[in-house]
Amino acid sequence: MTMRMSERTVGQEEQDYERPLRALRPRTLDEFVGQEGVKERLRIFIQAARARSEPLDHVLLLSPPGLGKTTLAHILAESMEARIKVSSGPAIERPGDLAAILTRLERGDILFIDEIHRLRRPVEEVLYPAMEDYKLDIVLGEGPHARSIRLDVAPFTLVGATTREGLLTSPLRDRFEVTFRMEFYTAEELAIVVARAAERLGICAAEDGAHELAARARGTPRIALRLLRRARDVAQVEGASTVDRALARRTLDMLGIDEAGLDSADRNLLSIMLERFDGGPVGLETLAAATGEDKDTISDVFEPYLITQGFLRRTPQGRVATERAREHLGHASVSRLL
Ligand SMILES: Nc1ncnc2c1ncn2[C@@H]1O[C@H](COP(=O)(O)OP(=O)(O)OP(=O)(O)O)[C@@H](O)[C@H]1O
Ligand SMILES: [Mg+2]
Repeated sequence: MTMRMSERTVGQEEQDYERPLRALRPRTLDEFVGQEGVKERLRIFIQAARARSEPLDHVLLLSPPGLGKTTLAHILAESMEARIKVSSGPAIERPGDLAAILTRLERGDILFIDEIHRLRRPVEEVLYPAMEDYKLDIVLGEGPHARSIRLDVAPFTLVGATTREGLLTSPLRDRFEVTFRMEFYTAEELAIVVARAAERLGICAAEDGAHELAARARGTPRIALRLLRRARDVAQVEGASTVDRALARRTLDMLGIDEAGLDSADRNLLSIMLERFDGGPVGLETLAAATGEDKDTISDVFEPYLITQGFLRRTPQGRVATERAREHLGHASVSRLL
């Protein structure tokens, strides 16, 4: 059994997989594993704002999918004892929708806008004066009789999250006072995430089992938690009491996830680059057409990890599969996968 490629589409994972895991979300910075640099800065940032009894400055959270942006936004709210209003770029269709959200905010509220790079331009323009001066410019009427009025917005904190830093417009980016960029987690950190989740789910996970899952989770807590749930299924079906290394390996093999944490979709991408394009450079569009994957999914979900692991490089001419990819796929038997 291999993971269906469509399961990797951006944004869809949350709906399909996360609901049962919501209870596993860390609620405080202390429970939030890893990202030590981010946490340290956040603690100071929160403590200072609280001491001044002021709302936090606007925060931008950047990372590939599943590394904890939404979780951190909720932790921020919790730490500030603030209310949080959750929305997303594509959900706010018209300027009036955003105006309605902004006018309902109260002092100190957090407005979390996920996928903020997908805000439409006219909507984004409503946000600028709101972020800068807590003002809302509303145009009444049309044509020569149109006039604009300025309304006050309660001092609030905008927390924006995106997987696509490159798609943010600079006026928007410039209005964020602080930016937190999150990195992939180490296997050790993910092993802690897995062990804690196992405890909460009532699964007995041996240290080596947790570590095996963590090491192949692409540096991503969401994936580590998903692998744990799959291992739990296997344990249940086999009547095993513990997720140990052997059981973890059987689960990973069944899912087609190799020692490097790559699944069949990753390997397919790399082998198409190697076999059909002689390793590249190959343009993103061409690669999307050749693999049948969505362009954004390739650049947001596949590539960041493949790049950090040295399997792929982005060059001005296009994507290049590295020698490491060639070696890795050599072991994984390229012909079988094509
Ligand atoms: N540092 C962490 N410690 C423990 N669990 C974590 C951590 N970061 C994330 N998680 C868990 O991983 C899952 C994914 O996290 P989250 O939804 O916050 O990621 P995200 O960055 O918002 O992803 P997306 O870009 O897809 O919106 C959640 O179940 C969350 O509880
Ligand atoms: Mg999120």
